[in-house]
Amino acid sequence: MDKIFPYDSVELSEDGKELIVLDQSVLPNAEVFLRLTSAEEIFFAITLLKVRGAPAIGIAAALGLAMCMNRMQTGNLQEFEDEFLRIKRHLYISRPTAVNLMWALDRMERCYYETKAKVSEKEDAIDVIRVALTKEARAIKEEDIQMCLGISENGFSLLKPGVGILTHCNAGHLAVSRYGTALGPIYFAQQRGYAPRVYCDETRPMLQGSRLTAYELMKAGVDTTLICDDMASIVMAQKKVDAVFVGCDRIAANGDVANKVGTSALAILARYYGIPFYVLGPTSTLDLNCSSGKDIVIEERPAYEVTDTYFSSQMAPKGVKVYNPAFDITPADLITGIVTEKGIFDASEMAKSFSLK
Ligand code: MRU
Repeated sequence: MDKIFPYDSVELSEDGKELIVLDQSVLPNAEVFLRLTSAEEIFFAITLLKVRGAPAIGIAAALGLAMCMNRMQTGNLQEFEDEFLRIKRHLYISRPTAVNLMWALDRMERCYYETKAKVSEKEDAIDVIRVALTKEARAIKEEDIQMCLGISENGFSLLKPGVGILTHCNAGHLAVSRYGTALGPIYFAQQRGYAPRVYCDETRPMLQGSRLTAYELMKAGVDTTLICDDMASIVMAQKKVDAVFVGCDRIAANGDVANKVGTSALAILARYYGIPFYVLGPTSTLDLNCSSGKDIVIEERPAYEVTDTYFSSQMAPKGVKVYNPAFDITPADLITGIVTEKGIFDASEMAKSFSLK
């Protein structure tokens, strides 16, 4: 597939000493690239949704951890290791639901200790570990690009010319390193002349659908229609939607899926209207440690996101009680299929296929 955007949403500078992220919190009004140089800045970029989307969070944390170690000035290996573990633990808790974050940071820790065990006495351990960590973080990003291409190709096989897709939140280029998961097949379809039509939910309260999905689809020339979250039922009833494509933050062993809050409501609607409901994501999102969706921690975010953010003045009575869960669980039996880079799986059978391999 041709590159859709001239930039990636998360990059490590050539010298490995800056993490460059496109600030998603100010899109679509401004394209601002942040150059982060400390663990604290990365932590806040993730918690404040400047970088968001499950794969992008994992990539930013891995590249960011490598960046911090490249900047650290010490000749003492114990000091270097303590700092590595401190930053890893800190970034680990920046968001709780997307498993990609923990997956990427655990992979960095394995790389640290495997490299340390192999360093010879003649070598400078800190230098060797720095090079290995940078290489590993860059590999995580490169693999993500390849995974997105695989997901895009597999998802494309489900589409027909003129197809109408409904999507929620943002699982596109901005949420990964390139192309996207739920939006990847749509970009393929667009480049192959299928003229897909996409309905994007605005995705309250943080408006990832209107600010990010509509922005990136329109940039790519895709026929895009923005709807409020409560309009999904009418567009389905009017037969404007042939399939629902959404991303995922974590897939439990029984096939239940955590994704942006509102996803499970779409799955229920899709079942009612007889519309296929697909979840698209890399196999690294499968978490065999969670037996069902009940084991997945649902992030709760601050009340101001619901009452104030993106409004020009507060849109709820001061002090109103707010409940703001950022994700919900879609039960496996409402999911038509999970589209991964390794193929399309029946949600409840997916874990079996992977534990056998
Ligand atoms: O809170 P966000 O914006 O990080 O939530 C993102 C989603 O729910 C996405 O659908 C998911 O991370 C998949 S991104 C390919």
